[in-house]
Amino acid sequence: MGHTQHNTEEHFLNGDNIAIRIRAYRDSDYPAVKKVLVDGGLFDKVWDRRSNLSKKRAYNSRSVLVAVSGKDVVGTVYVSYDGWEGFIYRLAVLHTFREKGTGTLLMRSAERELRRLGAREVAIFVDAKNSGLHKYYKKRGYKLSRMWRSMWKRL
Ligand SMILES: CC(C)(COP(=O)(O)OP(=O)(O)OC[C@H]1O[C@@H](n2cnc3c(N)ncnc32)[C@H](O)[C@@H]1OP(=O)(O)O)[C@@H](O)C(=O)NCCC(=O)NCCS
Repeated sequence: MGHTQHNTEEHFLNGDNIAIRIRAYRDSDYPAVKKVLVDGGLFDKVWDRRSNLSKKRAYNSRSVLVAVSGKDVVGTVYVSYDGWEGFIYRLAVLHTFREKGTGTLLMRSAERELRRLGAREVAIFVDAKNSGLHKYYKKRGYKLSRMWRSMWKRL
């Protein structure tokens, strides 16, 4: 897998030797990112609304990353760090682009961004029933923690 790093862009070849760029999200990417999240079953119409992504981007311009093939956004991942614990959310790759290494590239870039920000550890939330995903993350160095239920409240 080739890899060169530029200031805000990372260029890779994925497993099929297709050139993939990982770069920061821009507002004009929104429809494509939404499509990727819908395709991956991760889209939340409140959390993932356009204005929220703009705010997140204003806080840290690399807190939403996209994987681009040619001109097309084919994957995304969000990073979150405010000085306490690092989090990675919303890893998704278009069905038609899966199993070529793009998800791995996105995770690697997200982890690199967290390290750059000073995070020493990263946590992810994974569906408790999705053993395939547990395997996916375990293979990439993640350990299972004890079972938690997430709870939420409208503010
Ligand atoms: C999870 C997800 C992002 C993975 O994306 P992906 O681009 O398919 O990930 P990768 O290609 O890096 O890895 C997938 C598998 O394909 C394999 N692979 C990588 N390159 C390959 C290639 N060139 N040919 C065939 N297989 C390949 C990988 O080895 C990997 O298998 P492994 O886990 O046994 O190593 C994707 O399945 C997805 O969008 N899922 C829905 C959304 C979701 O649930 N996200 C997680 C939220 S917590």
